Amino acid sequence: MASLVDGFGRIATDLRVSVIDRCNLRCTYCMPAEGLVWLGRDETLTAEEIERVTRLFAGLGVDEVKLTGGEPTVRPDLPDIVARLRAIDPGLDLSMTTNGLLLDRLAGPLRAAGLDRVTVSLDSLLRHRYAEMTRRDALARVHVGLEAARAAGFERIKVNCVVISATNDEEAVAFAELARSTGYEVRFIEYMPLDADHTWERAKVVPSSDLLERIAATYPLTRVDEGPRPAAVYRFEDGSPGSVGFISTVTEPFCESCNRVRLTADGQLRACLFALEETDLRGPLRAGADDEELARLALEAVAGKWSGHRVSHPDFVRPERSMSMIGG
Ligand code: GTP
Ligand code: 5AD
Ligand code: SF4
Repeated sequence: MASLVDGFGRIATDLRVSVIDRCNLRCTYCMPAEGLVWLGRDETLTAEEIERVTRLFAGLGVDEVKLTGGEPTVRPDLPDIVARLRAIDPGLDLSMTTNGLLLDRLAGPLRAAGLDRVTVSLDSLLRHRYAEMTRRDALARVHVGLEAARAAGFERIKVNCVVISATNDEEAVAFAELARSTGYEVRFIEYMPLDADHTWERAKVVPSSDLLERIAATYPLTRVDEGPRPAAVYRFEDGSPGSVGFISTVTEPFCESCNRVRLTADGQLRACLFALEETDLRGPLRAGADDEELARLALEAVAGKWSGHRVSHPDFVRPERSMSMIGG
């Protein structure tokens, strides 16, 4: 079987599938307050098409699929998509990153459809700050969603916190306490230049090393070695449940161990989060391409992947599409 290997010897085994570009929040680090043009219904891949592409990638060695958006739960047929992907292979690690707002009614159906894990985005534990960062007063709903996820049987729940300097960075220890009291893996994500408003600047990035130091001063930490993945994970030395992870895209890039490839909601393949080029799969798919032809396109796209992002280089160029259209 051919595998999705690139020119630097990295093998893509993790497919991130954006199922929709829309969202019910407007996080400042991701979307504009208004004015983003949505994909039309017929521009978005159908559940059947997502299944076809995922099956193809599973045949090329992908064993992990992450559903993203926009916000995946605003897509009405999400449980059907999950059920279709689950049917491809019972061993597939199938997870979703969500803002949690709709988990109160969807956690159960998604679990029943075969979703293995959820990660919930939560950037502040303070109501006013959450509302400021997401432009919606919805913190209470996220907490309800997290509880619903647990009640539905999801284990190893992760929380994503995008950290922005002088905004929410002083909550690092409070988030570590959330991890300790719930058992969640709380991951601090460095702010990346993928916001639609283009207000990212280097000075707004809080290096993970700073956060680690602040947390460890109160709760000593020990690194957990889990192999190649974006987050460097630490457990609490006192044996408390929960853990903290750091995704340091800007200050400590981990591109040399990248195992990801991305499919946008409109069926474009992106070899990197920051890729400037995309490979159209939707066109050939709808024109009747067979699996061999689609596999050739996928293998070529991954083969041409660059060594890594250039965020810290003077020649850095932002991708045209911002985070909500790429899927994170
Ligand atoms: P799991 O740990 O398997 O659940 O997946 P994950 O860590 O990829 O989870 P998630 O989708 O929640 O991603 C967390 C954050 O890491 C998001 O902000 C992503 O944009 C970022 N991220 C995920 N994959 C990559 C990657 O390949 N490169 C970079 N630079 N950032 C990534
Ligand atoms: N920088 C870092 N993380 C981001 N996310 C969205 N936009 C950005 C950004 N500009 C995160 C979301 C979500 C994940 C998929 O990506 O908060 O948790
Ligand atoms: Fe992979 Fe690109 Fe992320 Fe680097 S920035 S880890 S190459 S997706």
